[in-house]
Amino acid sequence: DKDVFKYYADGEWRVSASGKSVTITNPSTRQPQYKVQACTQEEVNKALESAKAAQKLWAKVPLWKRAEALHKAAAILKQHKDPIAKCLVKEIAKPAKDAVSEVVRSGDLISYCAEEGVRILSEGKLLVSDSFPGNDRNKLCLASKIPLGVVLCIPPFNYPVNLAVSKIAPALIAGNSVVLKPPTQGAVAGLHMVHCFHEAGFPKGLISCITGKGSEIGDFLTMHPGVNCISFTGGDTGIAISKKAGMVPLQMELGGKDACIVLEDADLDLVAANVIKGGFSYSGQRCTAVKVILVMESVADALVERVNAKVSKLKVGAPEDDCDITAVVSESSAKFIEGLVMDAKEKGATFCQEYKREGNLIWPLLLDHVRPDMRIAWEEPFGPVLPVIRINSIEEGIHHCNASNFALQGCVFTRDINKAIMISDAMETGTVQINSAPARGPDHFPFQGLRDSGIGSQGITNSINMMTKVKSTVINLP
Ligand code: G3P
Repeated sequence: DKDVFKYYADGEWRVSASGKSVTITNPSTRQPQYKVQACTQEEVNKALESAKAAQKLWAKVPLWKRAEALHKAAAILKQHKDPIAKCLVKEIAKPAKDAVSEVVRSGDLISYCAEEGVRILSEGKLLVSDSFPGNDRNKLCLASKIPLGVVLCIPPFNYPVNLAVSKIAPALIAGNSVVLKPPTQGAVAGLHMVHCFHEAGFPKGLISCITGKGSEIGDFLTMHPGVNCISFTGGDTGIAISKKAGMVPLQMELGGKDACIVLEDADLDLVAANVIKGGFSYSGQRCTAVKVILVMESVADALVERVNAKVSKLKVGAPEDDCDITAVVSESSAKFIEGLVMDAKEKGATFCQEYKREGNLIWPLLLDHVRPDMRIAWEEPFGPVLPVIRINSIEEGIHHCNASNFALQGCVFTRDINKAIMISDAMETGTVQINSAPARGPDHFPFQGLRDSGIGSQGITNSINMMTKVKSTVINLP
């Protein structure tokens, strides 16, 4: 039926032979918003065959032309920022302003990636043999980076455009083809984004966007022999993928429990501003959100007071009105968050605000005097609920960070640069921010999760390199 968005394969918009669709529920209204095709495994097979064929030709397209096509897609994406942002508002309840900036940031990422790709992929290595014992100078090794083949890109609901292009652009500039499996919520924003690449004139079959039920095509895609690399961002589905995937390079980012360590000499107004931005932006639904505050006891009351004053000013409501706190993405997410809150209540946490939920809308909540026996000290709510743990030494704070299963980012607030560097060295996370909340951006910075937070490294340069392999040609001289 006409109001089901088509999927994209072989340079065309198509209706699935399944005759079935997947409904996207608007988190704010909890009503059906859009429908997308429920593609079949046969349609997945065809898309992967086309991707394989198209990739061989794309790898021969001169690097500058590949970059030119990406710059075009970036420009078209930015031109369409408003309709794409509207999809984000309706599908994932992203506040309108944040939705527009996600699209603009994505255009910038694509362009930066094109430039970076031209630079780093034009360089190879010439190695001579006589540097190794027993060898004469009679072997010349020409080593260069070549594409992996077909890259399966699986972005999460919270950045269905930005975390899609952060996989697609590196893959394409490196000469790979791409199969995009968007999150159900965010799929229509993803399809609109793909249309920008279509308009930019990428070859047929090089890019496809397959929508459908995870139960139907999820494993089929991630275990498919036609896939040469998987780049996944999301929740613990990623752990399952890493166990089932074949012998292919994996780039996984699986969430975090970013800690914010606050020392006695910290600028508490700066901390409070960053706790609000870091803990409550997009209702806490960010991998790099501040997810636990570890504050020295002696300054804890002063910090909690400042944070509470700012929490009371947060606007709660519709994403269309640019509210700070909007509905979390689904009823199951809201229920999970509520479970963590109720557990903290039973175990005696101090509620700085009344707990309040209407449907998927949860009012921002700061929990004080949280202790390690409470689930919220360790689990990732992915919601506007933030625990405060009071510590009596820096070592206690570092211990808590390093005892977590997650190891994505973290931050420390202090005026003492020596302590800041010591704490950064001691925290086992991929990134430590000094005197600012954790964040993935700017997007050319390295970005990696360790332990349960992921595999491999992101950030534009790392992603380009991760989607290539080294090819060596050795010239043997007499
Ligand atoms: O949740 C995705 C994670 O990458 C967060 O990104 O840019 O909000 O720090 P960002």
